[in-house]
Amino acid sequence: MNFKIAVLPGDGIGPEIVEQAVKVLKAVAQKHGHAFAFTEAPVGAAAIDQTGNPYPDETHALCMESDAVLFGAIGDPKYDNDPKAKVRPEQGLLAMRKKLGLYANIRPVSTFPSLIHKSPLRKELVEGADFVVIRELTGGIYFGEPRGRSEDGEKAYDTCIYTKDEVRRIVNLAFEYARKRDHRLTVVDKANVLASSRLWRETVQEMVPENKDVEVDYMFVDNAAMQIIQWPKKFDVMVTENMFGDILSDEASVITGSLGLLPSASVGIHTSVYEPIHGSYPQAAGKNIANPLATILSAAMLLDGLSLATEARAVRDAVALSMEEGVVTEDIAEGKASSTSEAGEWIASRCAV
Ligand code: IPM
Ligand code: MG
Repeated sequence: MNFKIAVLPGDGIGPEIVEQAVKVLKAVAQKHGHAFAFTEAPVGAAAIDQTGNPYPDETHALCMESDAVLFGAIGDPKYDNDPKAKVRPEQGLLAMRKKLGLYANIRPVSTFPSLIHKSPLRKELVEGADFVVIRELTGGIYFGEPRGRSEDGEKAYDTCIYTKDEVRRIVNLAFEYARKRDHRLTVVDKANVLASSRLWRETVQEMVPENKDVEVDYMFVDNAAMQIIQWPKKFDVMVTENMFGDILSDEASVITGSLGLLPSASVGIHTSVYEPIHGSYPQAAGKNIANPLATILSAAMLLDGLSLATEARAVRDAVALSMEEGVVTEDIAEGKASSTSEAGEWIASRCAV
């Protein structure tokens, strides 16, 4: 089949990890007789340097007309210590999510047997942990108005807003996921303090009668943060608002032994975006040492999104094999480490046969 794939490498290690995922997708296309047309476009700090806009209109147009978007990472230290910067690379990512209507971010958390010993948790706690964090992505405090500073500069404010419709569409998707898995859904909120969380809880309670085949429980976010490290195996599908999901999914990712391993898919109204959950790791940029696995696993999710399940499985199998055989980057290597490109090439070559 023919597919158009927009490639947005972004900043830091973005270009080098995305390059590996593209190699893997090319190998898959060749083996299974597909034609993938890849087109690159700038986003983030790279786009600010070129155009002044972290999500240029041309990049948006390309995403809109593509079947899927493969995204690297965003962020540049030159902006991090400058709170007065007028444009920031992260605005590009947020604008992309908003303009593409990507209201759901799916972050699967699974452990790899060959990496369990790298987990900060004891083996018996984490072995076999397998859950999905579904994060609302276009609402809440990330986007609510008003936001800003008082005239005298002494006060700043952000606003967390949700509508019942926004809650319903993400929770509906979470119910669907739970139905494909173990039929358990944990709704994470702070309903003991926040009005927006009480709206979430009330809306979910209204949805329960039509979703009786899924067992729903509610958990305050502070408790959830604790339980993720205390008993990660208890979770199946977790759904939560934008900022809680940002924080909890980072926390969840380290229990697997490497942040460099977790992929994600952002889905919604227009073209879906597939990206690793880690950041742009500027210290490693250009050194050919960054772990490409989260991006390659995001490419597997992309294949799933194109209904190419066999191809997606082949990529995941090749990634698992690379870990078993120790063809991995220095962050997870036991013996001699491979470079980013060596790891990518090895996986691509497995997908080609
Ligand atoms: C993520 C990132 C982004 C977010 C940043 C870079 C804006 O942390 O995708 O989790 O907070 O959503
Ligand atoms: Mg984050």
